[in-house]
Order: sequence, then structure tokens, then C-alpha cells
Amino acid sequence: MHILHVVGARPNFMKAAPVLRALNSYPDVRQTLVHTGQHYDASMSEVFFRELEMPEPDVNLGVGSGTHGQQTAAVMTAFEPVVIEHKPELVLVYGDVNSTLAAALVCAKLAIPVGHVEAGLRSRDRAMPEEINRVLTDRLSDLLFTPSDDGDRNLLDEGIPRSRIHLVGNVMIDTLVRLLPKAKTHLSNGANGRFALVTLHRPSNVDDLVWLRDLLTTLADLSDQLSVIFPVHPRTRQRLNDLGIDHSRSTRLHLLEPLPYVEFIGLQRRAAVVITDSGGIQEETTFLGIPCLTVRENTERPITISLGTNQLVGRNLQKLRDSAEAILQQKLSPQEERNPVPLWDGRAAERIARIIVRGSATE
Ligand code: UD1
Repeated sequence: MHILHVVGARPNFMKAAPVLRALNSYPDVRQTLVHTGQHYDASMSEVFFRELEMPEPDVNLGVGSGTHGQQTAAVMTAFEPVVIEHKPELVLVYGDVNSTLAAALVCAKLAIPVGHVEAGLRSRDRAMPEEINRVLTDRLSDLLFTPSDDGDRNLLDEGIPRSRIHLVGNVMIDTLVRLLPKAKTHLSNGANGRFALVTLHRPSNVDDLVWLRDLLTTLADLSDQLSVIFPVHPRTRQRLNDLGIDHSRSTRLHLLEPLPYVEFIGLQRRAAVVITDSGGIQEETTFLGIPCLTVRENTERPITISLGTNQLVGRNLQKLRDSAEAILQQKLSPQEERNPVPLWDGRAAERIARIIVRGSATE
């Protein structure tokens, strides 16, 4: 069986790595890895391939940045001949980035079966480009691998047949489980003592410069209490440059380059609080038992609130301040490695591989 995987942006790599590994143990499976090149900086791509021990991509489409239309179209145009040449029997796409939808659409039109890993998540917020990508990718996919049962319910509500839906657990947690021992031995410079860890890159937070400036001021205020470590996504870096932001008043607000995976997990597990707008980090903090404040109005990962450590603070800086204060006052110690969400156990990719090869997740 020939399976082709498509990855393009940072959060895809931690999801694809365990699936590639799990399928590797089946001698009859041949795998091809395509990188669309949506993320191209070494710090957003190359370093993850090394750390996650992923094979070099067989093909790199080199599409780079652009508007959503340009980026999606560029992936489609470059990917179509690759599919025609390689003739895979199944194409696996991951998550919700533009590369995911573009690849699924090409395959659907060529009648090549598509499997979507991390299917069924819904924020119900169509202003998010990722939500559009999720809904359409699920619509186009033949195999839908969900991380939690809310995903199954969302898909059934949209009329997707039960037979296509497979609740397998969370592949991002597979990677976390595998690399946590390494992360525990990683010592980061500047992260001694208590600190908050921040990531922000969503258009809703960083493209509105007034809001971004206010957020930065709030983080600078927080840094009067404890160090704030903020690895900055390239999109956010561009906006901060546009603003000419001067954060020099605070020597404890550290704006860093994007960090490699192991170092970032090493920081996450020791953070007093994580402030983020990322999807994956809401899940990782839930697994690690670290309090997480999500700077969004909604989440496609409600299980991180109902069973985990996540709280939505929305577009409300007072709420962000108050919630951070409450967390810091409680002096919560991390409840590391409790495992509150069913099937977030490090074995999701094995289940996916079994379903693909044998037609069932059970041994
Ligand atoms: C994309 C995903 C988002 C995911 C995020 C993780 C979509 C719609 N969004 O958002 O779901 O959470 O990746 O990082 O697919 N850039 C660089 N170097 C890079 C990559 C990007 O400089 O290696 C800059 C580009 O100038 C680009 C901007 O960052 O304009 C945004 O990149 P893009 O891939 O369009 O979306 P992200 O914001 O990264």
C-alpha cells in the first residue's frame, strides 16, 4: 500500500511524525512525504524534522507565503502533478492549515482517498481561516480520525456517515509522550525561577495593531511579577516591527525567536502559567496539567476546558490580568502527566495505522 503524507506548517510536523513512525512498522506500506513549504524558515520547519526524527521530505513544493487564496492555489497547482506522478492509494493530511485543505481538494478531484488526522474540531467561528479549512477538509475526506468524542459528534451533526469516523485520540500528545523525557533534561537559559510562557500568532490577535500593543503592555505589566518568556512567531515579529514596539522598559519580558520543540516543551512543563492563542498548546498544557489562558473568544478544543486546564479570556485584558493573578496566587504546582482525556495516551498513531492497514483499531 502506498501512502502519501502532506505537511506544510509547524503544527503539522508533530502530528505527522508519529503516524509516519507507526506506519513504518508495516512492511507492506510504502510512504511518501510531501512538504508544501508553507512554513520555510529553519526555525519553523527544519529544526522540527531533526528533533522529531522525521525523514527528509521526498518532495518540497516550496510554495511559501501569500494571501490565503494565493497560498492555497499555489499548493494545489504544485501538488496535483505530484499526486498524478506518485499515484498513492491514500493521502493523509493533518490539522487545519491552508496546505491541509489544498491537498485534500486536489485529491478529492483526482478521486484519491483522503484521510484527515485531527478531524471534527469546530470553533464555529468562520472568521478563523482554520475553521474554514477544517469544515471543508472533513467534507472531502474518506477517513476521519478524531482526537476526542466531541469531534465525532460534530461530524455526525454535519451528516458525515458514522462509518468514516474513527475516534483514535490525539497524535500531538503521542509526540509529547515520546519526547517528554528528553524535554525534562533540557535546561533553557533565562528560565530560572517562576515564569509565564506566551505565544501569540493568530490574525485576530496580531493583525490588529492597537489590540497587539495593548496585549504587549499587559504582558509587560505581568513581567513586574514574574519573567515572561515569549517566543515570537514570524507573523507576530513582522507586526511588532510594524509597530516599532519598544518593550525595553521591562527587562523581564523576553521576546525570543521561535523555539525548537524539545526546548519549548521543557519550558511549558515548568511554566507557572501559559498564555496563548495556539490550538496545540491548549492540548499540551491540558496533558501536562499547566494552567493555560487562551486569548480567544472560542476554542475548537472544548475538552481542554471541560477536562483540562484551559480557560478562555477572550478579548478582555482585565480578564487576562485577573485570571493570571488568580493562577499565580493559588501557587498551583503542575500536575504533570495526569491523563484526563480518554485516548490521549501516546498511542493514537498506532490506532490510525491499524485502521488504515487492517481496517480496525483493535489488535
Ligand atoms: C499557520 C496556520 C495556523 C497555524 C500556524 C502555526 C493557516 C491558515 N494558518 O498560520 O493554523 O496555527 O501556521 O504556525 O494555514 N512566515 C515566515 N516564515 C515561515 C512561515 C511564515 O516568515 O517559515 C511569515 C510569512 O511572512 C507569512 C506569515 O508568517 O506571511 C504567516 O504565515 P502563514 O503560513 O500564512 O500563516 P501562519 O500565521 O503561520
